[in-house]
Amino acid sequence: MTLRFAQKEDCAAIAEIYNHAVVNTAAIWNDKIVDVENRLAWFAARQQAGFPVLVSEENGQVTGYASFGDWRAFDGFRHTVEHSVYVHPEHQGKGLGRALLSQLIEEARRIGKHVMVAGIESQNLASLHLHHQLGFVIVAQMPQVGTKFGRWLDLTFMQLQLDDRHDPDAI
Ligand SMILES: CC(C)(COP(=O)(O)OP(=O)(O)OC[C@H]1O[C@@H](n2cnc3c(N)ncnc32)[C@H](O)[C@@H]1OP(=O)(O)O)[C@@H](O)C(=O)NCCC(=O)NCCS
Repeated sequence: MTLRFAQKEDCAAIAEIYNHAVVNTAAIWNDKIVDVENRLAWFAARQQAGFPVLVSEENGQVTGYASFGDWRAFDGFRHTVEHSVYVHPEHQGKGLGRALLSQLIEEARRIGKHVMVAGIESQNLASLHLHHQLGFVIVAQMPQVGTKFGRWLDLTFMQLQLDDRHDPDAI
């Protein structure tokens, strides 16, 4: 297994992993699948903003990806990012999620971010466990703020403080 920065050629595999989660899980609160062009635009926007997109790869196949973007689009939130991590269903439970997220945390530190936020569907035990394992703490529980598959979804926010600097704009 190797971890590396994504290239635009990875966007078809990223779309496949994303779409599987859209159709089969409550991890993404979207109902619509996307095409490769959609992920290419997403990838270009991440690159333009200087945000990383990481992939895991095995035998030439992309097995998972992780990335972050702005948490909220106001200047004052500039030191906080919200991330996502997705592992191909046939490769879950083999440590890839932990490897991807661990590397993503290092990338967030490297570019001077202060806090990482994860919005997790409250029944997603795998994701809750993974984030807890890497030091994230639960900071909010929001009952019934979403819906999918004909039921209400609860959102758990977890966050990780990346450094302890006092001056927000010191790096
Ligand atoms: C959540 C996800 C990223 C975890 O990645 P993964 O590669 O399957 O997880 P890992 O193998 O790295 O396991 C990390 C930890 O979570 C635990 N875990 C994995 N699946 C689990 C499950 N279904 N229930 C409880 N714990 C689980 C592992 O046991 C491991 O903990 P341990 O070291 O104490 O044993 C992956 O399952 C996934 O892509 N799910 C669908 C999309 C999703 O939910 N993304 C996150 C949105 S917030």
